Amino acid sequence: MEKTFAYLKPNSIQRGLIGEIIRRIEEKGLKIVALKMITISESMARELYREHAGKDFYEPLLAFIQSGPVVAMVLEGENAVQRLRILVGKTDPLEADPGSIRGRFGVSIRKNLIHASDSIESSNRETRIFFEETEINDYSLLNEGQF
Ligand code: CMP
Repeated sequence: MEKTFAYLKPNSIQRGLIGEIIRRIEEKGLKIVALKMITISESMARELYREHAGKDFYEPLLAFIQSGPVVAMVLEGENAVQRLRILVGKTDPLEADPGSIRGRFGVSIRKNLIHASDSIESSNRETRIFFEETEINDYSLLNEGQF
């Protein structure tokens, strides 16, 4: 089973979309194995987005994601990385499929509601920024395998 990392950005919390977005993730058959609300520190933010260091949107992005609490999670399922990326939609909500989370609720590219890891390697790296190994739960759902 593959795992992937995601977090709901501060504007998802401010807009009261935590439940709506998590509902869509659960509906898609991705199992939540870790979940918490956390305020991102500057060092976490820099580590999370280190590949974007130096780009014009880097500093405003760091300020935005530290502007309020976020909801971080680890999800598990077959092809979890790709399935979540499709559910989330393209980075720019203007280009995202209208059925996707960003396409449905997103307004701007910076405040695109949710981040989802783009590979298993990114997911492992990003998960370690937010979670201890002991915070990742190993359990089965009663209906697992019936989707
Ligand atoms: P995310 O999936 O979290 O990964 C990197 C983030 O950088 C991305 O979502 C956007 O929020 C942000 N981003 C990428 N490109 C731009 C841009 N051109 N202007 C502002 N923010 C951007």
